[in-house]
Amino acid sequence: MSYEDRPPLDPHPLSEYVAWAGHRNRDPILELLKKKLPTDAGEVLELASGSGMHINYFAPHFPHLTFQPTDRTEETFEHIKKLREEKGNRNINDPRVIDLTEPSTWPEEGGYHAMFCINIFQVAPVSIAEGMMACASRLLHEDGFLMVYGPFMVDGGFTTASNEEFHNILRSAGVEEWGLKDIADLRKAAEIQGMTLAEQIDMPANNFSLIFRR
Ligand SMILES: C[S@@+](CC[C@H](N)C(=O)[O-])C[C@H]1O[C@@H](n2cnc3c(N)ncnc32)[C@H](O)[C@@H]1O
Repeated sequence: MSYEDRPPLDPHPLSEYVAWAGHRNRDPILELLKKKLPTDAGEVLELASGSGMHINYFAPHFPHLTFQPTDRTEETFEHIKKLREEKGNRNINDPRVIDLTEPSTWPEEGGYHAMFCINIFQVAPVSIAEGMMACASRLLHEDGFLMVYGPFMVDGGFTTASNEEFHNILRSAGVEEWGLKDIADLRKAAEIQGMTLAEQIDMPANNFSLIFRR
C-alpha cells in the first residue's frame, strides 16, 4: 500500500489505519529484531500487541524463541489467536492482560530476554512510560532489552515536517493524550527504574526504534 492510500487516522488496534501502518513498518522492525534478538532459546514479550499482526509476523522467523502477546484488555485476544492459528504459529503463547497504567496487571516477575512495543505513545499519555519502564525493569533478564518503536519528538522539536504534520493531525482530534511524545520523557522514566536509553535508531518513515537496557 502506498502512502497516498493511507486510510483515515483511527488508533483502534483493529482499524484499517493501524493495519496500514503495521504493514509499512513490520519489515524494517523485523530486520532490526534479527540483529538484536537472542540466537539461543529465550522468551520475548510484546506490550500493546493490538491485532497481533506484528507478533504473528515475527514469530516464524525466530522458531527458537517463545513470544508472549499482551494488551491492556482482552478485546483483541481472539483476533491474535485467530492469526496464530491461520499462520500455524506454535511459538506464541495465549495473550495476557498487561495494562501499563495498572500495576495489579503486571506480572510479579519474569525472565524475558527482550520486550518490544510498537506505535503506542502517539495515542497514549506519556505517563505510560513509567509503567513500561517499571515492567521492563521487573521482567527483563539482566542483559535483556526493551525496544520501543514509533514517531517521537527529540529535545522538544520535530525531526521532520511530516512528523510535525502528523502531530498536528493527532492534536486536532481533540483527545488530550494524542500527539507525539518526546524521547527525553521516556529516557527520564527509564532512568528512574535503573534503565538507560542505549540506542536511538532511525527507522524508515521518520520513526525511531529506542533500545533501553539496564
Ligand atoms: C495504535 S494501537 C497499536 C497496536 C500494535 N502495537 C500495532 O502496532 O499494530 C495502540 C495499542 O496500545 C494499546 N494500549 C493503549 N493503552 C495501553 C495501556 N495503558 N497498556 C497497554 N496497552 C495499551 C491499545 O490497546 C492498542 O492495542
